[in-house]
Amino acid sequence: MTRAEWDPRTLPDLSGMSYLVTGATRGLGYFACEQLAAAGAQVLLTGRNPNRLAAAKAAVKRSHPDAAIETLLLDTSNMGSVRAAAATARARGRLDGLLLNAGVVHPPKQREVVGGHELVFATNVLGHFALAGELLKPLAAARGRMVWVGSMSTSIWTHVPTDPELVEGYTPWRAYVQSKAATTALALEADRRLRAHGVPVQSLVAHPGFSTSGRTRGVRGVNEPSRLKRFVDNLQAPLTQSKEQGAWALVRALVDPLADGGEMYGPSRVAKGEPRVATPARRTRRSDLGADLWRACETATHVRWPFDRARRAAS
Ligand SMILES: NC(=O)c1ccc[n+]([C@@H]2O[C@H](COP(=O)([O-])OP(=O)(O)OC[C@H]3O[C@@H](n4cnc5c(N)ncnc54)[C@H](OP(=O)(O)O)[C@@H]3O)[C@@H](O)[C@H]2O)c1
Repeated sequence: MTRAEWDPRTLPDLSGMSYLVTGATRGLGYFACEQLAAAGAQVLLTGRNPNRLAAAKAAVKRSHPDAAIETLLLDTSNMGSVRAAAATARARGRLDGLLLNAGVVHPPKQREVVGGHELVFATNVLGHFALAGELLKPLAAARGRMVWVGSMSTSIWTHVPTDPELVEGYTPWRAYVQSKAATTALALEADRRLRAHGVPVQSLVAHPGFSTSGRTRGVRGVNEPSRLKRFVDNLQAPLTQSKEQGAWALVRALVDPLADGGEMYGPSRVAKGEPRVATPARRTRRSDLGADLWRACETATHVRWPFDRARRAAS
């Protein structure tokens, strides 16, 4: 298969492969899990709410009764939860890929703090930085891959995230876009560091374009938009796609054997379309920004990625 031949509706056989997805209870995370399960993968659905996790698992099972699905509680804004979930995931054994998808998409109007950190940064960035570090050894043992979820909004935003916790100048939009810019910069910084340490794990970014629930098929307990939501979302149809389609780029970044560390995947027409290689916003490619954010994440989470032990786990 060449890169141009990728068909998101017909994935390679993923039997024997094992993936962990954050934010699997709805939206892109849920549909990514469905697509992975349909290709035969074992999928560990993670989320912060046990009832929503059970509903998501039941929904995957309805469409793929033989799917190897497990669930695990994981609140990415809570470092204790991240550590506990990572310990459970490590005990399960094989891990081929990590989809770092969970996110606060509609931030609160006023700055909120959780566990000492700004809520959006904690949920979208810090939890994933810590989780990826905690799971680096099993990922390396499987010569696996991690995919961080960015956003096309980072390309239309000119600010450099030098104050990741937004102590000054918080707005919901700024908190969101800044968290996605930081996510992208960290994904690329992780790729640089993994290569420098000789760890055989790839770090990639993916973005889903503009994907709305009102343009997505109904799934009981997972995607049940109101009629009004469907009406409003359908008015934006020329610019948007379903979350099922949005998940294509995330899944391609996770499983395409021809994808490589440091790459980004997104829809062919930026907001919608088949998944293709994309270009991260220029600011997010700056290695000084990546290094600054890395230090900030280490300080905030007290997690140091175990590069040397991961390299040994792979040999
Ligand atoms: N949709 C788009 O057009 C778009 C565009 C660019 C980027 N993205 C990114 O894609 C990712 C998924 O977006 P989406 O559209 O699928 O959003 P969504 O439908 O709102 O789903 C968000 C998911 O994240 C989970 N989540 C939120 N806070 C969490 C926490 N503290 N711990 C664990 N899970 C948590 C939610 O769980 P609950 O069910 O418990 O709330 C839910 O499963 C996000 O990172 C978002 O920034 C989306």
